[in-house]
Amino acid sequence: MKFLYTIRWKFILAVILSLAITSGLLIIGNQLATYLFKVEPFTAPIAWVINHIGSRPLIYVTGILLFILFYFILSQQIIRNLEQISFGLRQIAKGDFNYKLSIKSVDELGNVAHNINQMAAQLKQSIEEERYAEKTKNDLITGVSHDLRTPLTSILGFLELIDEDRYKDEVELRYYANIAHEKTKSLKSLIDDLFEYTRVNNGYRFERNKLEVNDFLYQLIEEFVPSLDKSGMDYRIQSDNKATFILADANQLVRAFENLIANAITYGKEGKYVDIHISQVQDEVIIKVINYGEPIPMQEIPYIFERFYRVEQSRSKETGGTGLGLAITKSIIELHEGHISVQSTRNQTIFETRLPLLKNS
Ligand SMILES: Nc1ncnc2c1ncn2[C@@H]1O[C@H](COP(=O)(O)OP(=O)(O)OP(=O)(O)O)[C@@H](O)[C@H]1O
Ligand SMILES: [Mg+2]
Repeated sequence: MKFLYTIRWKFILAVILSLAITSGLLIIGNQLATYLFKVEPFTAPIAWVINHIGSRPLIYVTGILLFILFYFILSQQIIRNLEQISFGLRQIAKGDFNYKLSIKSVDELGNVAHNINQMAAQLKQSIEEERYAEKTKNDLITGVSHDLRTPLTSILGFLELIDEDRYKDEVELRYYANIAHEKTKSLKSLIDDLFEYTRVNNGYRFERNKLEVNDFLYQLIEEFVPSLDKSGMDYRIQSDNKATFILADANQLVRAFENLIANAITYGKEGKYVDIHISQVQDEVIIKVINYGEPIPMQEIPYIFERFYRVEQSRSKETGGTGLGLAITKSIIELHEGHISVQSTRNQTIFETRLPLLKNS
């Protein structure tokens, strides 16, 4: 029965129906003429027509005209659908991706219309994504230029002072040189971070290997012992030490967790401890990096993973970061098909990372 819903069949149906209606009308017309022939005042005009045109030619011509008329009427809907499709395509070509074809017919045209609607929706989505990417890129460039210019201006200023011998004595000279040096270092760290961020986000090829999470984190935290000492802090790891394997690019994952641990030390000094909790839930490993410093204000939480975002600019400025650390971490975790989130209360700030466990390990 499927063939009944094709255009080809609909056209055949239109021909058959037109023929049937035309024949029907011709038969009725013929009988009517026969009947009217006997009734005055129709006898004379009918006789005239029969004598001058002939009943056969009359029937043929009327038949053809009627057939064409009914064929046009019956195929009208199909033609109208075609016109609607071509109008819709023109609208979409002009860029109106919200245009929707409302063809409900169950045949190829209905299908075409459905596909066109889908195509328009897809195009709309792609264009929106592209626009978003473009905007993100522009934002990044704006942010970067701003962040590069600020230290550069001050380096330039101090170097100018030195160059023009505008300093009292050697002590002041050293002071200026020192500031320029510090600013250059922060500039370098910004450029390094930026490089890292764009690399991770622009198709950096990951080399993923089997990695044991406990070993990985025990090793990593050891590297932080000097800076923990310097901040008067200590670390604690809580884990059931069950072998926990994931598929990861170890170098990248080191970066991700270095950023989290470095943050926990920088922003959690008062808390004395950096805690790391490792656990498995179903097919995921959950790694929590916890510190007990000042909480991240509720309203800032949604932005914390954005590039260049730093909480309370003034407080954070003292610590001299660039605000790229968490953006890099998030990108890396997501490239590992993982997920990172943060909870911050008065007592503790928890960065929770979930990574898929390696199957059959
Ligand atoms: N553990 C934490 N406790 C409290 N605040 C935090 C913590 N981690 C991050 N933050 C806040 O989030 C902001 C963004 O962190 P992020 O690591 O992205 O940048 P950063 O540390 O400022 O600079 P860097 O790029 O050098 O890491 C920080 O400025 C800080 O205010
Ligand atoms: Mg940081």
